[in-house]
Amino acid sequence: MLRLNKVSKYYQLNKSFISPLRKKIKAVDSVCLEIKSGETLGLVGESGCGKSTLARIILKLIAPSAGEIYFQDQEITDLSENQFRALRQKIQIVFQDPYSSLSPRLTVKKIISEPLQAFKQKKVLIAQRVKELLINVGLNPEYENRLPHQLSGGERQRVGIARALATNPELLILDEAVSSLDLSTQAQVLNLLKDLQSKYKLTYLFIAHNLDVVRYISDHVAVMYKGRIVEQAGVNQLYENPSHPYTKILLNSMPSFEKKLLLNKNQSAILEKQILPLDNQGCCFYAQCNKAQAQCAEEKPELNQIKLGHWLSCFKPKEI
Ligand SMILES: Nc1ncnc2c1ncn2[C@@H]1O[C@H](COP(=O)(O)OP(=O)(O)OP(=O)(O)O)[C@@H](O)[C@H]1O
Ligand SMILES: [Mg+2]
Repeated sequence: MLRLNKVSKYYQLNKSFISPLRKKIKAVDSVCLEIKSGETLGLVGESGCGKSTLARIILKLIAPSAGEIYFQDQEITDLSENQFRALRQKIQIVFQDPYSSLSPRLTVKKIISEPLQAFKQKKVLIAQRVKELLINVGLNPEYENRLPHQLSGGERQRVGIARALATNPELLILDEAVSSLDLSTQAQVLNLLKDLQSKYKLTYLFIAHNLDVVRYISDHVAVMYKGRIVEQAGVNQLYENPSHPYTKILLNSMPSFEKKLLLNKNQSAILEKQILPLDNQGCCFYAQCNKAQAQCAEEKPELNQIKLGHWLSCFKPKEI
C-alpha cells in the first residue's frame, strides 16, 4: 500500500543571538518503511522523534527534503496538487485532539461532509452518506445537528473518524488518535477501528505513545528515534525479542510491562539525555548507548534484515 524510500525532512532554523549559525534539524532522516494492504503498522518513539512529520509527508502536506514515496506502487513524491487530487481521498488522517481538530462552529454534518464537498458530490448523496458514516462509527444519526462542544471526547473522536472515512480512504493515518481519551473510551474506539479495518479492508499507520495500545492494534511495529527508524518487526517479535538498545529501554519503561522491574536507573537516565549533535555522522543512538563502539560514532548503521521481517539499525545486534 505504502512504501517510503530514504525519506528525509530537514528544517533550517533561523539565526538567533544565542545560536548565530543556522541550525539544521533532521526531523526525519532517511526513513524506509513499508505498509502492506489491510495491515496496521504501529509507529512509536519519544516526543519530537519525527512521527507527525512523517505523517505529514505521507499526506503530502509537506514536501520531503529527499527520498521517494510510493502509494499503491505509484510514485507520489513529486505529484502536483492537481495530479494528487484523485489519490488524496485515499489517504486520510485522524488527529490526536478531537477538541481542536474539529471546527467548533460547524455542525457534525458539516464537519463530516466537508471532504465530500471538495469532490463535488450531490447534496442528497452527501446527506445520506453522513448518516451512514455516523451509524458506522457507532453514533446516532441524529447527532448530525450537534456542535462539537455538545459531544463527549469519545463521540468527538468518532466524528473525526467518520470524517476521515467519508471519502472511502484506503490508508488511514491515526496520529495519537486515541491518546486523549480515557481508558474505557480508548478501548471502545480501538475496537471500532479494528471493526472498520476488517469491514473496509483499511490499512492503518497507527502513531501512539502507549505501547500497550500499539501492541493491541498493530501487525508490525516500527521504532523511531531522532528521525530514524531503528527497528521494525512483526508485533510479537518486536515485543518479545527487541534487539535495538533503544527499543529495549522503551519496552522496559512501559508501566504495565512486567520487565519494568528490571529497568535499571542508568537506562531511564539514558532516555532523559538529549545531547547528540543534530549533524551527527554516526548512529542516532550513539551518545545514549552503553554498547557503543568507535564505528557507531562514525557511521550510520543501515536498517538491515536480521531475521525474516525483523529489521534493525545497529552494528552490534548479537552482543546487546
Ligand atoms: N516547521 C518546523 N520547523 C522546524 N522544526 C520543526 C517543524 N516541524 C517539526 N519540527 C521539529 O521536528 C521534530 C519532529 O517533530 P514531530 O512533530 O514530527 O515529532 P513527533 O514525533 O510527532 O512528536 P510528538 O510525539 O510529541 O507528537 C521536532 O524536533 C520538531 O521541533
Ligand atoms: Mg506528533
